[in-house]
Amino acid sequence: MVRVLVAYASERGGTAEIADWIGAELRASGMEPDVRSAGSVPSVDGYDAVVLGGALYAGRWHREARHFAQRFAEELATRPVWLFSSGPLDHTAEEKDVDPVPGVAKVARRLGARGHATFGGSLAPDARGLLASKIAKRAGGDYRDHDHVRAWAGEVAREILTVGT
Ligand SMILES: Cc1cc2nc3c(=O)[nH]c(=O)nc-3n(C[C@H](O)[C@H](O)[C@H](O)COP(=O)(O)O)c2cc1C
Repeated sequence: MVRVLVAYASERGGTAEIADWIGAELRASGMEPDVRSAGSVPSVDGYDAVVLGGALYAGRWHREARHFAQRFAEELATRPVWLFSSGPLDHTAEEKDVDPVPGVAKVARRLGARGHATFGGSLAPDARGLLASKIAKRAGGDYRDHDHVRAWAGEVAREILTVGT
């Protein structure tokens, strides 16, 4: 069995659900995924491949995703790794490939990541918080696309099988 860690960093749950969708697709492809919040992962030992994703806030990856990448930099450099971000509160992520923000691009280079995808985000129209409620009024909604996520995870699964572990 190929063991894949899907680690996510999420503030309001949207990115956590994307990680679940990725896990479901990997399982459907015959792998054994472990979907966990990045901050709760004590070690990456025993995983053949890692998918790390984070929500975008103020142009940066969620801090738990950044910390995870730092904490396990050595181990991740020796495993196949894929990254994803979730953020745009519009349809751009479904209309074209959205490049990673600079901080995530740097992590991708450092870890030798095999790929990165940006998925649409979600924000409840009644989100709490000064800034969040302002943004929600203008752009609140769910812009995540299950099919986009599933297709990407399917590609990751195929590559994991091609790369070997
Ligand atoms: C205060 C705030 C700042 C945000 N900044 C960004 C940003 O810089 N880039 C982006 O694409 N999305 C941004 N978003 C949208 C979030 O990334 C989106 O709501 C995402 O789905 C949140 O994921 P989570 O539910 O896992 O926390 C922002 C949202 C809020 C509330």
